[in-house]
Amino acid sequence: MFVGCYRHLLTAISPLMVSAALLVSHPSFADQKLPNVTILATGGTIAGTGSTSTTTVGYTAAKVGVEALIEAVPELKNVANVKGEQVFQIASENMNNDYWLTLAKRVNTLLAQDDVDGIVITHGTDTIEETAYFLDLVVKSKKPVVIVGAMRPSTAISADGPINLYNAVILAGSPEAVGKGVLVCLNDEINAGREVTKTNTATLNTFRTPELGLLGYMQDNRPHFYRQSTRRNTADTEFDIMGLDSLPRVDIVYGYANMDPTALNAFVAAGAKGIIHAGVGDGSLASAVKPSLIEARKKGIVIVRSSRVGNGIVARNGEANDDELDFVVSDTLNPQKARILLMLALTRTTDTKTIQTMFYNY
Ligand code: DGL
Repeated sequence: MFVGCYRHLLTAISPLMVSAALLVSHPSFADQKLPNVTILATGGTIAGTGSTSTTTVGYTAAKVGVEALIEAVPELKNVANVKGEQVFQIASENMNNDYWLTLAKRVNTLLAQDDVDGIVITHGTDTIEETAYFLDLVVKSKKPVVIVGAMRPSTAISADGPINLYNAVILAGSPEAVGKGVLVCLNDEINAGREVTKTNTATLNTFRTPELGLLGYMQDNRPHFYRQSTRRNTADTEFDIMGLDSLPRVDIVYGYANMDPTALNAFVAAGAKGIIHAGVGDGSLASAVKPSLIEARKKGIVIVRSSRVGNGIVARNGEANDDELDFVVSDTLNPQKARILLMLALTRTTDTKTIQTMFYNY
């Protein structure tokens, strides 16, 4: 209110003084209370080390601790009051349900505290997209949760970790990020946890949201949003993992020419409660596999038709009569994200109509 009145007065005096008022009120210049951001470190390349400064592949991930990551970016203290916790230290190809439950419970506990305004999670890039969607479905707060990684180890020339961490902390402390769901922030871009995916094995711009697009950019020390996800997430979620110490087994059967039901039958024998069929095209079912899927359904296993294609809607009753087969379709979720939603859905119900509604809502 004071600044608003002050600026009104200055408008009456001179344009030059108005710009001074705007500078004073601009977020990066105002003398304002810094947000409290907690960094939860889990490993990955952002914490990785290589044998030389030019080693950008063949390095060791998950070596550098959270305090060292914070010390490497002294500029963090200009944008937030930062605390660090090492939740675990892994290369993210080793991520599993136990780590997810540990991380999600810590996130929810911290976000329930009045002295925490946002959270940054440093993470290996290989499974960032899965952790981001898992947290998008189980975090019980509108406060920002930003997942960040790096494509070059901390020892490399032009390592991307420090600037990615700096941007992620700013984003996690930004009012604009409140209520946007879990965000993934690398390479100056902001993507939604529901839709982002890793699209290149090695380049800095690997995290993309093909077709549906990114949410915005990090530039000039602040976020610039241009859209937001339309699906239920975080504070609006019905899923609650706080009392869980395990999650139902859900596996993915990858579709390809000449496939047979060997993999599917192995997953059924291993006790899968759900199967994601990553079909070719619009989730098509090969004749060699369809009978085994029907048998699995008869055993009470929930079958979700997804697609290996990666973009577009898998249409219900399109390539298969889902009503007759009692199958579910994944909508636009890729197989690895459909697996996460089905896993959480099975903590609440095995009713396929209810689960299909979840795939249209989240
Ligand atoms: N081992 C991979 C991981 O931890 C390295 C990739 C990365 O973090 O960028 O995800």
